[in-house]
Amino acid sequence: MPGGESSWGIVGWLLLIAAGLLHFLEDPSSEPEQLSMNKNIIALREGYRKLNRSCFILGASGETGKELLKEVIKSQLFHKITLIGRRKITFEDEAYKDLVQEVVDFEKLDDFSAAFQGHDVGFCCLGTTKAKAGEAGFIRVDHDYVLKSAQLAKAGGCRHFNLESSKGADKSSSYLYLRVKGQVEAEVQELDFERYSVFRPAVLLCDRQESRPTEWIARKMLVPISYLFPSALSVPVTTLVRAMVNNMVMQNDKRVELLDNKAIHELGKLGESKNEHA
Ligand SMILES: NC(=O)c1ccc[n+]([C@@H]2O[C@H](COP(=O)([O-])OP(=O)(O)OC[C@H]3O[C@@H](n4cnc5c(N)ncnc54)[C@H](OP(=O)(O)O)[C@@H]3O)[C@@H](O)[C@H]2O)c1
Repeated sequence: MPGGESSWGIVGWLLLIAAGLLHFLEDPSSEPEQLSMNKNIIALREGYRKLNRSCFILGASGETGKELLKEVIKSQLFHKITLIGRRKITFEDEAYKDLVQEVVDFEKLDDFSAAFQGHDVGFCCLGTTKAKAGEAGFIRVDHDYVLKSAQLAKAGGCRHFNLESSKGADKSSSYLYLRVKGQVEAEVQELDFERYSVFRPAVLLCDRQESRPTEWIARKMLVPISYLFPSALSVPVTTLVRAMVNNMVMQNDKRVELLDNKAIHELGKLGESKNEHA
């Protein structure tokens, strides 16, 4: 890694202190209420399986999406899983043989409305970065494609929409990334799904193949912090997807749920196997 070791050390310590503060300042009421009501996640998953539901995943080729796909296939929660993306994904494993893949042009999503029809549950793990797509490209993917997909899903009968947003999402933020995330969260909420779950993870701990230097540095610096204060600034992607699935099988009366990084950690712990690494 380039740069002087001593300055990285100072930044590291500052982050460590900030993480500690954040950890202790986190609002305890943000813990999911479902947690206290649900002791047996295995039974809940079995109950959900009997509902015979179908789902779609947007962004299944990405870090979160592919882990989420693994989780829903392993748990056999759906009778039909549809991947909606801009390209077909190749899978070697037999477990993936029954997947349906809908290849769409996100610039002309209205022409592909059929792809969004008839799914009970939708997961949206779409996203890009300003570095990769430029400012306009980032807004197109993280706002326009997400919102349009949600609209088509709602029109197609989707009852439960799950959106992967981001820690700090805020439609009034002066920071583009957080503002766009906050705006799309709010606009999807206006669609009034029967159930709308928004996940706001911090930095995802995953083994990303694609080169993203800033994220790589952040992740390396977060290793000691995540060890000491697991839920402060990061979350393993495996924990996130388990939280998404666990949350889904826990029926509740809330139409809109906002799950922050701490809630994601709490929910994601349920059903975790030992020696698991992100
Ligand atoms: N990475 C983090 O630390 C972090 C933290 C908090 C929140 N988030 C948010 O969580 C979400 C998922 O993050 P991730 O890191 O798992 O994502 P990722 O690995 O970058 O995957 C993004 C997905 O979006 C698709 N996509 C990107 N650009 C597209 C375009 N122009 N047209 C159609 N599809 C496009 C990708 O498809 P292709 O494979 O075809 O490119 C891929 O399936 C994002 O919204 C991100 O902002 C990320």
